[in-house]
Amino acid sequence: MSIAVRAPAKINLFLAVDPPGGDGYHSLTTVFLAVSLFDTVTVSRVRAGDGLTLAVTGPESAAVPVDSTNLAWRAAALLAVRTGLDADAAITLDKQIPVAAGLAGGSADAAATLVALDGLWGTAMAREQLEELAAELGSDVPFCLHGNVALGAGRGDRLSAVLSRGRTDWVLGIALGGLPTPTVYAELDRLRTQRPLPGANDLTGVLTALGRDDPELLGRSLGNDLAPAALSLRPDLRRAMRAGEEAGALGQLISGSGPTVAYLARDAEHAITLAARLSAEGLFVSVRVVSGPAPGPRLSRSGR
Ligand code: C5P
Repeated sequence: MSIAVRAPAKINLFLAVDPPGGDGYHSLTTVFLAVSLFDTVTVSRVRAGDGLTLAVTGPESAAVPVDSTNLAWRAAALLAVRTGLDADAAITLDKQIPVAAGLAGGSADAAATLVALDGLWGTAMAREQLEELAAELGSDVPFCLHGNVALGAGRGDRLSAVLSRGRTDWVLGIALGGLPTPTVYAELDRLRTQRPLPGANDLTGVLTALGRDDPELLGRSLGNDLAPAALSLRPDLRRAMRAGEEAGALGQLISGSGPTVAYLARDAEHAITLAARLSAEGLFVSVRVVSGPAPGPRLSRSGR
């Protein structure tokens, strides 16, 4: 028997970062949006005692570990421990979401693995139990379990509802190479000891824009405190940000800890024009047209 679950990437429309706490983590205020770029996690039954195996396919597979350092593996191990089951399953990740790109691809895989194995192993976990496991796995995993759109507090793992009407259309500029999240947070802390930094300041604008379906207002209100740190580590992204203005995006921002740049379009057609213009700049390894909100992990196939 096997079960396949599809899980979306996320971008942050707003990300305000407080100074680090004693545990090294930063308190956040963030607006998450799940977008239509999906990994698919397939889990299959194996013989009792065979343990876990992990295989990765798809265009983004090369950079993905296939051992217990992979968050999907850790999700499977955690679910087994908490339910008292043996961790017996073959897991396959079809990676479409770029790695270390600020799109929470690893977190999406972990959330999808929890949902898929809960089905395969028949553990029938309550929603709150899955949410608890998600928060243990990483700050973005609870949102990845949730999908759509949400406001995140704490480490980003405490979620509350956001009113959102209509869809938003985006172009994702996928830059070459990744940026490790801890490095970007550390760079932000370093830069903040040197000078005041421009940051995200219009949460109300973002929430009002989503509630009213007002892309122009949304474009003006986007903000990310991690942007100066990502730009400091990757100065090439400055050109990518400027390219959005020149190409007529309603707004652009670094997604999460980067290096992906998300450009807001007026509508689906504008997104295609924008993608063509941005591709012509030759700044990215790939340019993707996506929309949000996208639903959280969903069963896409189950069979024997
Ligand atoms: O929670 P997660 O394991 O995904 O976090 C990865 C790293 O990102 C942490 O080790 C920390 O350096 C940084 N982080 C942070 N504050 C947050 C979330 C993540 O400093 N709220």
